Amino acid sequence: MSDFVIGESDFLLDGRPFRILSGALHYFRVHPGSWADRIEKARLMGLNTIETYVPWNAHSPRRGVFDTEGMLDLQEFLRLVAEAGLYAIVRPGPYICAEWDNGGLPAWLFSQPGVGVRRYEKQFMTAVEEYLHNVLSIVRPLQIDQGGPVLLVQVENEYGAFGDDQVYLKSVAEIIRAAGITVPLVTVDQPVGNMLAAGGLDGVLRTGSFGSRATERFATLRAHQPTGPLMCMEFWDGWFDHWGGPHHTTSVEEAAAELDALLASGASVNIYMFHGGTNFGLTSGANDKGVYRPTITSYDYDAPLDEAGNPTPKYDAFREVIARYAPVPDERPAPAAPAPTYSVTLEEPIRLLANPGHWGAWSDHASMPTLDELDARLVLFRTDIDVEGPALLTVGDVRDRAMVFLDGHPVGVLDREQHDNAIMLPRGRGRLELVVEDQGRVNYGPRIGEPKGLIGSVRLGSQVLSNWSACTIDLDAVPGLWAAGSTDALGVGPTAWRASLEVERSADLFLHTETWGKGIAWFNGFCLGRYWRRGPQATLFVPGPLVRPGLNELVVLELDVLADPTARFGPRLSLGPVEL
Ligand code: GLA
Repeated sequence: MSDFVIGESDFLLDGRPFRILSGALHYFRVHPGSWADRIEKARLMGLNTIETYVPWNAHSPRRGVFDTEGMLDLQEFLRLVAEAGLYAIVRPGPYICAEWDNGGLPAWLFSQPGVGVRRYEKQFMTAVEEYLHNVLSIVRPLQIDQGGPVLLVQVENEYGAFGDDQVYLKSVAEIIRAAGITVPLVTVDQPVGNMLAAGGLDGVLRTGSFGSRATERFATLRAHQPTGPLMCMEFWDGWFDHWGGPHHTTSVEEAAAELDALLASGASVNIYMFHGGTNFGLTSGANDKGVYRPTITSYDYDAPLDEAGNPTPKYDAFREVIARYAPVPDERPAPAAPAPTYSVTLEEPIRLLANPGHWGAWSDHASMPTLDELDARLVLFRTDIDVEGPALLTVGDVRDRAMVFLDGHPVGVLDREQHDNAIMLPRGRGRLELVVEDQGRVNYGPRIGEPKGLIGSVRLGSQVLSNWSACTIDLDAVPGLWAAGSTDALGVGPTAWRASLEVERSADLFLHTETWGKGIAWFNGFCLGRYWRRGPQATLFVPGPLVRPGLNELVVLELDVLADPTARFGPRLSLGPVEL
């Protein structure tokens, strides 16, 4: 049993000053078979702590559910951290930002009329309390004062960048305390006066998030946190990418110099990220500051360990810097070996528009429902239209992309990022089909919690279209589509393909997607995430623990067009062009 408290100017571990050298590693972005490997590599870089967020919406896809299986086994993750001799920081939100869908808030929350978002409102608080009790019942026995690794628990996340409801913030802290958390609590804010003022709480240690100019940032933080240790809770050593943008990197020398300056000041640090990992499945978020920009699948972050968990030059540079301030183990992790390469043909296409009933369930609606009302990420909407001549189709808000078909022929795409909300149909008569896709919920700012789908009315000329049939596509069932036995002739619209891949041994693989269009891929039933020809990323990471000696199955759902139905697995990550 140890004792960890906040002293006048330091963290005190059993009465002695203790500097936290932490690295961010999100268990939900790494295959559990690789957790121990990544934690060990953190130890070898000289870190003494691992920090993780907890994503509420991943654990609770439906109200009343709290899933802790597989990649969501927080208890096992913390156990492995302890087994490696490291400490832990847990940041359960309820809001986490983190480039994660909706900043971690479950979409089901927002089906309650009048529900508050990150403010003291009864429905929101009831759900928050339920969630925090579930998470913290895992964390409580793993606190340092109970023999576990957990040193700190964070309240909310950069709240000062969002709101100023002190009653809310205080009540989140009280819920955390009432759930039996006895270790010190912290908040984090960008080091800007008004954010620190609105996002902090008396009795809770304020920390900062920044990637440069440590001395100046800590001076700002100090003005709001007159005593206690200084800590950068998010030392940004890289950044995330958006579809269609460059791959972000930071200079190794500059990042190392910034870390050096931070450590020279005597402060504690959490390196964000130590290892970013992957937004597997459909978990990535989006930003929208006037233009909607969805986040890519890779969360490489240009971190010391790359997306596949291999050490980069930044790893060595940070290790060297840390060694100036703290003991670092002699051993250095082995460099990455090139991955085995394969090329297989994608076959047996099954087309959504040919037989949607195989893909999900149909329902009828007088007016167009949202994707939230249908509890789906991808929906085929259908209605019959009947007006003279060419006709203008307009939609209030497209969230986030709608592929338009008339009598089975593609007419075009309405894309939120382009602010497209109207398209001319060549004629006003026939079967209108819209395939509507949620590309990731906004995770920062006032748009968190907004509904997905075609929001507002869908009109043909001045007439509001009614009587829709909706086929909610069950994405989890896509890898099982072939069980029915039939395949289709090639044609337009979303199409599922599959290939089998024979491998000799289990190893990480890098699936090249740059010759494909836009879609989603699964490996042995596990959803690797989205791909898009816009890049920047040109590979999807296939974690080694998913790959089994012998036959493996790859399934690809191409929404647009697969010009070359070949799946190539290359030797290494390809994260795309870097802007100089
Ligand atoms: C902020 C948030 C993090 C993350 C980073 C950017 O600091 O607190 O969750 O979104 O920005 O990567």
